[in-house]
This record gives sequence, C-alpha cells and structure tokens, in this order.
Amino acid sequence: VHHLLGIKYLKEQDIQLIFETADHFKEVINRPIKKVPSLRDITIANIFFENSTRTKLSFELAQKRLSADVISFSAAQSSVKKGETLIDTVNNILAMKVDMVVMRHAHPGAAHFLAQQVKASIINAGDGAHEHPTQALLDSYSIRERLGDVAGKKVVIVGDILHSRVALSNIFALQMQGAEVRVCGPKTLIPKYIESLGVKVESNLRQALEWCDVANMLRIQNERLDVSYFPSTREYVQQYGVNQTLLNSLSKEIVIMHPGPINRGVEITSEVADGPHSVILDQVENGVAIRMAVIYLLASKLKP
Ligand code: CP
Repeated sequence: VHHLLGIKYLKEQDIQLIFETADHFKEVINRPIKKVPSLRDITIANIFFENSTRTKLSFELAQKRLSADVISFSAAQSSVKKGETLIDTVNNILAMKVDMVVMRHAHPGAAHFLAQQVKASIINAGDGAHEHPTQALLDSYSIRERLGDVAGKKVVIVGDILHSRVALSNIFALQMQGAEVRVCGPKTLIPKYIESLGVKVESNLRQALEWCDVANMLRIQNERLDVSYFPSTREYVQQYGVNQTLLNSLSKEIVIMHPGPINRGVEITSEVADGPHSVILDQVENGVAIRMAVIYLLASKLKP
C-alpha cells in the first residue's frame, strides 16, 4: 500500500512528478468543466481530528474534481467523543469499502501509526508539529510558479517554527529541490535541532528579509503555546511582524507567503497579506491541483 506520510519519505523526482501532474490538473480546473472521470472507482475518507478550513475543503474539492466518492468526518461530531479509538474509528470507516484515508491529527506520527495498522492508502493532512506534506508541496509549487524555479532560491520561514509542521515539511521540500532555507523568530519558538537540518537561524527580521527571495510567514500557534515561553503580542509584532513600510525599505522585492490562517496585524499586516507581493491566495488555489496530483498518483498504485 502506498502513502504520503511526510516529505522526508519522498525523493526529488517524486516532487517533480507531482508538480508535472499538478500542472495538468491546474489546466483542467481552469476549464469550464472542471472535472475528470479518473477516480470514479475510488472511495476516499477525510478524517479530521483537528480543525481545518483550507486543507479539508481543498482535499474534498480535489477528490470531487477527480470523480472519487468522498466521505468526510470531523472528530468533534463523531463517536470519538464517546471514547472510540483511532484504530476502531478507521477500521469501521474502512469496513464501508474505503480505499484511501486523508487524516489530520494532533499527535506527531499519527498518520505513520495508522499506515502500519490499517489496509488503506494514507495521506497525512498534518500530524501535530511533525509534517504537513501537501502544504509544503503547494508552497514549493507556488514558488516555482512565481519565480520559475525553486532551485537556488533563498527562503526564510518566519515565526513559530517550534510548533509548525509547515516549517518542517517546507525545510525538507525546499532543501531537496536545491533551495537555501533560514528561519527567523524568537529564540523560544525555534527548536534546538533546527541547525542540525542545515538551517541557519537569523534573529533579525530585516536582515532575514534582505537575504531572502521568499518569506513564508507563520502564524503563532496560540493553541499549542505555553504562554511562559512567548514574548508579548506587542513585542512580537515589533520584532517579527511584516508591514508594508518594512517591505518598502528593502533593497529588493520579495515574495510573501503564508499557509493560513492569518493572525492579521500580528505576523503580517492586511496591507501586506492582500498586497501585490503576496501569493497567499495562489497557494490556496494551487492546493487543489497539488492534492489532485497526489491523490491521482497514489490511486494509480491502488489499481490492479
Ligand atoms: N494551511 C492549513 O493547513 O490551513 P487549515 O488549518 O485551515 O487547513
């Protein structure tokens, strides 16, 4: 059985194949008829144990554009609330003849665990602070679209790196494609192991922005935060928030990314988020084509 559990299990040629397949699907979803019959024989369950807007809707739309049968499950409205385990939950869903499971879970390694326990293709839609592989793929795809290539580009990831699966998956994906990655944020939100991944830490935001071609701005994950570790929001905005005045003062133009959801006025102002250098909604648009590509490529391995 084939899975997408994390970027670290992919090779560079896998990423290129996903991008080429996504190029095709991006053209398809811009046609008047946005749907292809490719996965009429496949049933997919989306099971989300954590909240999501973009990832959940984007996966659902990608599956529907491929003509798959889709069921979606939010733990908060399910029998998980009565104490049912993850494995029982998934095995009951699989008993309904489901071929593929897309899962978001708060625990790092949850998708991995599931892949070992059940007979279905698993796609990790985010596991705790571990990985969010389709987010990193759509982020790299959006850089490729805006700047022509990922290789040789300088990308700084700004903010709460410690709690971020987006940061880790992006580091793996960007380095694999030949980009250079730095992180920038308060010491308390940078994990100690980051330099062992070949990622330099830059504490000064202006210097980080002067260095980079792309700044990927992350949200402070208040829901995962031990407040004693955190600078105040006012201090954070002063030291690590990106506003238009700061962007205008740089010696060159840079691309602004954000995986969403945005804390407007904290890590990024509305003027920057909605401005000409932002590719934030391009990232969301590309997410559908990327997820179509991932599902299509995995499903092609399920067929006899
Ligand atoms: N980028 C992202 O994962 O957003 P959601 O949490 O809304 O899915």
